[in-house]
Amino acid sequence: MPDAGVVIRGGTVIDELGARRADVLIRDAHVVAVANGIEETSASRVLDAGGCAVAPGLVDLHAHLREPGREEAETVWSGARSAAVGGYTAVVAMPNTDPAIDSAAVVRHVLGLGAMAVCDVRVAGAITVGRAGERLAPLAEMAALGVRLFTDDGSGVQDARLMRRALEYASDLGVVLAQHCEDDALAAGGHMHEGEWSSRLGIPGAPAEAEEVMVARDLALARLTSARIHFLHLSTAGSLSLVGAAKSEGLPVSGEVAPHHFTLTDADVAGYDTRFKVNPPLRPRSDVEAVKEGLRSGVVDAIATDHAPHALEAKEVPFAEAPPGMLGLETALALALTELDLALDRILALMSWQPARIAGLTGEHGGPVTEGGPANLCVIDPEARWVVEPTRMASLSRNTPYGGRKVTGRVRHTVLRGEPVVIDGELQR
Ligand code: DOR
Repeated sequence: MPDAGVVIRGGTVIDELGARRADVLIRDAHVVAVANGIEETSASRVLDAGGCAVAPGLVDLHAHLREPGREEAETVWSGARSAAVGGYTAVVAMPNTDPAIDSAAVVRHVLGLGAMAVCDVRVAGAITVGRAGERLAPLAEMAALGVRLFTDDGSGVQDARLMRRALEYASDLGVVLAQHCEDDALAAGGHMHEGEWSSRLGIPGAPAEAEEVMVARDLALARLTSARIHFLHLSTAGSLSLVGAAKSEGLPVSGEVAPHHFTLTDADVAGYDTRFKVNPPLRPRSDVEAVKEGLRSGVVDAIATDHAPHALEAKEVPFAEAPPGMLGLETALALALTELDLALDRILALMSWQPARIAGLTGEHGGPVTEGGPANLCVIDPEARWVVEPTRMASLSRNTPYGGRKVTGRVRHTVLRGEPVVIDGELQR
């Protein structure tokens, strides 16, 4: 049967080329027309976009989808649904699963699980076997399956010599290493940011320097090897200043920040609520301001969610025993729109086309909304006010610290390969 198509009507298209009022006609998974007054046929579906932005779908560089191994917290299927609700058409699944995504077999398995999902699921491969930091994982066999990002996220690669080898190898393969910057020895025993609040609360802290020494070391290694490196969830003023200086010097580095690092501070830990436990930890106000400044100045290339679902039982334990991590996919865009003093097109750059480039997804995600382009789109109502309700989330987990928070800006529709997978905020499958 010929595809009668989908018409997105009455919105403002916003992409890297700028903003213009236009309807968008989609057919056979592609954008076939971007123009005013597109006529729908009786058979075509119409998505209302009045007052909305029609944009390339969001791209998340950093989502923990937990499969294989922790399916009670999230699955590839449920994580993709959570992503679609959040406006994402592509997510990069982190490899700290059980088993870790450190071989072609596990990459194939996760990509297979993602094939039918409502979001394009890509994977990051581990840098070292089992993420144990001892031996390089078979990066080439994973790269041959299309893996473009490699990370031991959850931990940083502690051994500088191994990291150097990994950078050299990655550079030859044309892939990018993404580092979780945390010096294990310096961070040992810490459960929150070390500072005034950790002292007051009697919770052992890890200093900002545990992150910063690894950022500094890896910048030195990037200089040594000329390899590209991407810094995950940067959270301190010191880290951002190091990355800013490296960029000025011309090093091929990029960096992301997570929404919780521009919306929450270490003072939020005061209730010992484990939903506020995350790694890197929530930081003092001065770091939050530095993260916001990094987003304004361009030192930061992407907002990534670090979506980290955990089952209720896992988080219902004393603070020191709880695993770090919080949900992110369904609140990231609204938090950015609400909390950042940035125009929508800047936020879209940080959440769509810039991360698409870092993940090597250009051509499929994040590109301009033009004739012939792939129909991976989201429609955003920037004025919609809503309250975060954890029980209504598509994620299997509920560990968000934002329950009850009032936010402005909501994803109305998400279109994946021409299929409306979210219409008026409702998942279609
Ligand atoms: O808070 C975090 N949670 N930080 C990490 O690095 C890992 C993640 C997880 O997997 O739960």
